[in-house]
Amino acid sequence: MEEVSPDGEVSVRRAREERMVEPIIELQEVSFSAQQQEIIRGISHRFWEGKTTALVGPSGGGKSTVLKLAAGLLIPSAGTVRFRGQDIAAMNRGETLEFRRQSAVVFQDSALWANQNLYQNLELPLRIHFPELSRADREERMHQVLSEVGYKKDLIIRPAQLSMGEQKLIAFARAMLCRPRVLFLDEWTESLDGNAAQRLIDRVQYQKEQGRTIIFVSHDLKIIKILADDIILILGGQISLTLTGAEIATDDYLARHIEKGIAS
Ligand SMILES: Nc1ncnc2c1ncn2[C@@H]1O[C@H](COP(=O)(O)OP(=O)(O)OP(=O)(O)O)[C@@H](O)[C@H]1O
Ligand SMILES: [Mg+2]
Repeated sequence: MEEVSPDGEVSVRRAREERMVEPIIELQEVSFSAQQQEIIRGISHRFWEGKTTALVGPSGGGKSTVLKLAAGLLIPSAGTVRFRGQDIAAMNRGETLEFRRQSAVVFQDSALWANQNLYQNLELPLRIHFPELSRADREERMHQVLSEVGYKKDLIIRPAQLSMGEQKLIAFARAMLCRPRVLFLDEWTESLDGNAAQRLIDRVQYQKEQGRTIIFVSHDLKIIKILADDIILILGGQISLTLTGAEIATDDYLARHIEKGIAS
């Protein structure tokens, strides 16, 4: 490689650097089928540590399914999902538990445990992943995240007694409790009023500044512009376009293209 041009040298160096940095999550030719239908078709993408990626696209395009595949909650029908180079589907029990400890999901429908009160919903992940914490330590963490998300009401009530927006606050608080390295957020500001939504956007911005890896789904171009380093447009179960946040911020045509893609 001695004879390369100055440009060539740059690209050789870049290729070397890229090989040295392993993606935190990698989807390789991932497909997913349910009820004889192929919902996700041969998606490949690398998510880099410390980066925030937005999954965007029209309803039914496959965003939530891709998020759940990347989070290891769905097993691909074909292809591989890797976390720090390791095939998630081939992890043993200990490795799976460690992956779960390092990651947290806010589901589109919040997915709180309906037969448990809010205190139990919040406490359970801490009991599983941090058994060494005392009850007082668990409660201190719970009260800290609840004040960060702005939830002030009772905890000894069941999720069904909350509005959809309040359920989102509790789901977000539950995800933050174990201080995950990777956050998967599916429409996590939906059903919230402007102030509450802004508070949760600020919390995610803070996590981003702390170097967390964030993969989120949103229909809101404003949120995408604020948070996303990378944007993936998903149409018909495939990646239609990948852009950077800088491209969206500086190129109105691309921003409009994403807006249209979300609405199409
Ligand atoms: N388990 C399943 N069985 C059958 N079809 C499914 C299943 N999961 C998802 N689908 C279908 O796959 C498609 C993609 O669903 P997905 O929830 O990923 O879309 P989305 O992009 O998140 O949409 P939205 O913006 O409405 O949340 C939809 O048509 C949905 O009905
Ligand atoms: Mg969805």
